[in-house]
Amino acid sequence: MVVTYLSRKMLQHSFAGTVYHFQKVPPLSYRGRFGVYVHIPFCRSKCSFCPFYKEIYSEEACSGFMEAVVREIEECDVQGVAKWIYFGGGTPNTLPVHDIVRIKSAVGNKMTVEAVGIELLPALIQRNYLQELKANGFTKVSIGIESFGHHILQATGRTLTKNDHPQEMVAFARSIGLWVNVDLMVGLPAQSGATFLEDIRKAGVVRPDQITIYPFMVIRGLHTPAGIPSRRQFRLIEQAGELLAANGYERKNIWTFARGQDLYDS
Ligand SMILES: C[S@@+](CC[C@H](N)C(=O)[O-])C[C@H]1O[C@@H](n2cnc3c(N)ncnc32)[C@H](O)[C@@H]1O
Ligand code: SF4
Repeated sequence: MVVTYLSRKMLQHSFAGTVYHFQKVPPLSYRGRFGVYVHIPFCRSKCSFCPFYKEIYSEEACSGFMEAVVREIEECDVQGVAKWIYFGGGTPNTLPVHDIVRIKSAVGNKMTVEAVGIELLPALIQRNYLQELKANGFTKVSIGIESFGHHILQATGRTLTKNDHPQEMVAFARSIGLWVNVDLMVGLPAQSGATFLEDIRKAGVVRPDQITIYPFMVIRGLHTPAGIPSRRQFRLIEQAGELLAANGYERKNIWTFARGQDLYDS
């Protein structure tokens, strides 16, 4: 469910000053079993590698977005079971947790929901944010670490790079019953094979339920060159797989490694 009048602009680069408002669209009509993806279009800064639709967070834009997205959900004609709802972005945790819960409740009023997941920027994760997610029925979190190297993230323009205690953060989330995925990337501009493999070793120590390793996809219109050529990125994922297997992670698909059967499978 998205604020649909913006969809044409999805892959454009400048959204500064976007005004969100509800616009009636042909009624969405679903029956049966399905998944729901809610796109939160705000970030604190824009990473140069990221092609997803986002703009810099402002309270004003967020308040327009909230009214529009909740109304769109309320007006849609959906009945059945959502196997999952995932909040992605952008950075869902730029929003206060009560806004996220408000959207989740609007979806929950329409249908039965089984799993609820959310993507989180590590530097904005607080313990009480995780606790409130859990108290409101969230079951899975996906943390966009990308790399443990501050300088590697800084080179992408990400301004909030603080991620001092990833192991504690993941352990805390798991201790309150949240299932945790960590996203890493291979091929970022300032990355080398050696720094990437160091990230994999660290991720094995941090021990989330799942580790997802995205090769850097250079989407048309992005002007950021990959730090590692594409073929080598895939060879490095093979090496990462061997390191992770020694840590108890089983390969689930080309870039997903998990310690159990469950997956963050949006
Ligand atoms: C859209 S982001 C949202 C999560 C959150 N904003 C964060 O960064 O922590 C979801 C994931 O997409 C991946 N991603 C972003 N740009 C990518 C690209 N060009 N190629 C491959 N993966 C990418 C990153 O691993 C990121 O964690
Ligand atoms: S990777 Fe995450 S924080 Fe960076 S621009 Fe994309 S959505 Fe925003």
